[in-house]
Amino acid sequence: MNIKKPILASVALGVSTMLWGATNELVVQTNKPGAEIQPTMYGLFFEDINYAADGGLYAEMVKNRSFEFPQNMMGWRQFGNVTLKDDGPFERNPHYVRLASPGHRHKHTGIENEGFFGVGVKAGEEYRFSVWARTPEGGEGKIRIELIDPASNGENQAFEKKNLTIDSKEWKKYEVTLTPKVTDPKARLRIFLTTPDVTVDLEHVSLFPVDTWKGHQNGMRKDIATALAELKPGVFRFPGGCIVEGTDLETRYQWKNSVGQVENRPLNENRWHYTFAHRFYPDYYQSYGLGFFEFFQLSEEIGSEPLPILNVGLSCQYQNNDMHAHVAVDSLDCYIQDALDLIEFANGDTTTTWGRLRADMGHPASFNLKFIGIGNEQWGPEYVERLKPFMAAIRKAYPEIKIIGSSGPDSEGKKFDYLWPEMTNLKVDLVDEHFYRPESWFLSQGARYDNYDRKGPKVFAGEYACHGKGKKYNHFNAALLEAAFMTGLERNADVVEMATYAPLLAHVEGWQWRPDMIWFDNLNTVKTASYYVQQLYSLNKGTNVLPLTLDKKPVTGAEGQNGLFASAVVDKTTGEYIVKVANTSDEPQELDIKFAGLKKKESITSGSVTTLSSADLNLENTIEHPDNIVPVTSTFTVDSRDSWTTTIAPKTFAIYKFKK
Ligand code: AHR
Repeated sequence: MNIKKPILASVALGVSTMLWGATNELVVQTNKPGAEIQPTMYGLFFEDINYAADGGLYAEMVKNRSFEFPQNMMGWRQFGNVTLKDDGPFERNPHYVRLASPGHRHKHTGIENEGFFGVGVKAGEEYRFSVWARTPEGGEGKIRIELIDPASNGENQAFEKKNLTIDSKEWKKYEVTLTPKVTDPKARLRIFLTTPDVTVDLEHVSLFPVDTWKGHQNGMRKDIATALAELKPGVFRFPGGCIVEGTDLETRYQWKNSVGQVENRPLNENRWHYTFAHRFYPDYYQSYGLGFFEFFQLSEEIGSEPLPILNVGLSCQYQNNDMHAHVAVDSLDCYIQDALDLIEFANGDTTTTWGRLRADMGHPASFNLKFIGIGNEQWGPEYVERLKPFMAAIRKAYPEIKIIGSSGPDSEGKKFDYLWPEMTNLKVDLVDEHFYRPESWFLSQGARYDNYDRKGPKVFAGEYACHGKGKKYNHFNAALLEAAFMTGLERNADVVEMATYAPLLAHVEGWQWRPDMIWFDNLNTVKTASYYVQQLYSLNKGTNVLPLTLDKKPVTGAEGQNGLFASAVVDKTTGEYIVKVANTSDEPQELDIKFAGLKKKESITSGSVTTLSSADLNLENTIEHPDNIVPVTSTFTVDSRDSWTTTIAPKTFAIYKFKK
């Protein structure tokens, strides 16, 4: 560090003032491009936690649409003569309801769905109502579909109505489009039987916006999927997280149940419905409507490598000390077969059993799966001994597939220290590290990967987030420290090949875990400061790391480096140099950015700076104020051939992009 000297800092209203700061000389070695930054470097971790799937990304608006929750009418109100039956057309979802005469011309029969924290509809948008129905005793039955405002004080609760005629004794799918004229985040869907003398059976009652992501009928919420796509994620990990393990093996995520006809995918219990007693959601289940086909399809559409994680024969180790809760090592065959079949489902040609199913579902071409994770954040010898046979089988059948193992739930310590050498011995391709850690940890880990073995497995920072003060919020300071820490991922791109912040999504009324990257309610999406950090890295990842020094030493964020963290890359496709700097200190800092090794005729001419900053470290983006913290970009010209001086404000993450 240079000796402190007064520097000029611009302040509001164009008044300049003298501040005491430090000059920091950052030297970018332009002629020594180093490690390639993998296209997978910055990606997404998806888990159905916080109502991320049903009630979130998956655009279905009806809860318990197949009447298969253990309390079959959960989420539904019923009036008049409604009976539950269990011999429906879908073998794995056999329940349905029968609407029959209420017994008096002034009475009504029907059902009403509460949606996920309400049914959120927007004025002028189209919603596709669909239902499987029949008139079991013959005749022509009619139902009226209504969107109602349960809190209405007006003349009419129903603000949109449509009629449907059920004209067959056989089960058929019926559809009608609703187009509300008003916006209501908390409407309900009501269905009236309007022909009391003709009994009607209803199954798989569904309501989707017509305008889903890419227009898919069994689709994703467009605003949320668009927010994911705008991150340009290199990898998309799914379906979790702990839901891969389940509270018990019965409730683990079973991908085979999540594919095929959507009406016939069996319900699964979501472990997050009871994981935290203080955030208890008894109506949290997995319809599997967002299943593995949809995950693969979404990965493809947002330009990510798909990365499925499968159960290794262990249920959640936090919740099961007893080894009987897990699969015995000699009984893993069907779990291993699940992994092999999944690869066939993703990549197999259409003459194979699972490749055929993929084609039947609308995707004859391979999904080009390259990675598979076996086990979530498992630990101990019980993990290693189960992973081994999986690896042998996958390597034998699919040697081209990269296998990801786990280093357990901790960023360091006993479990971690045991597993890393085991993973190296097993020759997994990548090791999935998890770290939800406080501010102090993130501040101290700038050099975490500097000394990792360059010849061992690569790192997948598969779940991480700064859990700041009170661990509660997505406040700016947490995002800033994530940005600072990520300079170390980038500088070590020869070791770190993937990184995914976690968790990804949370419903403001239904979360179990925070912070999260994107929040949403029934109508809106909020990108947090952490989202913008991820996006800034992803959009500016460049192609190769460039050596960088701060006052002649490697930049590690260590003491004596003025709270500065930095990395530099070149984008060989555009020729740009990109320098990322996080100033975690309370002081403005002068940066003297120098470009060493330019060719004779080369010179830096111009650039842009994008900053993410907030004077209030506790500030966060909210539904009401989604733009409290957003990146701001400006451009500049560079007069000197090979250097540029600027001041980075306190508590700021900045991306400087230089053109030659
Ligand atoms: O991201 C939330 C949880 O954190 C994940 O399900 C689990 O893998 C980790 O413990």
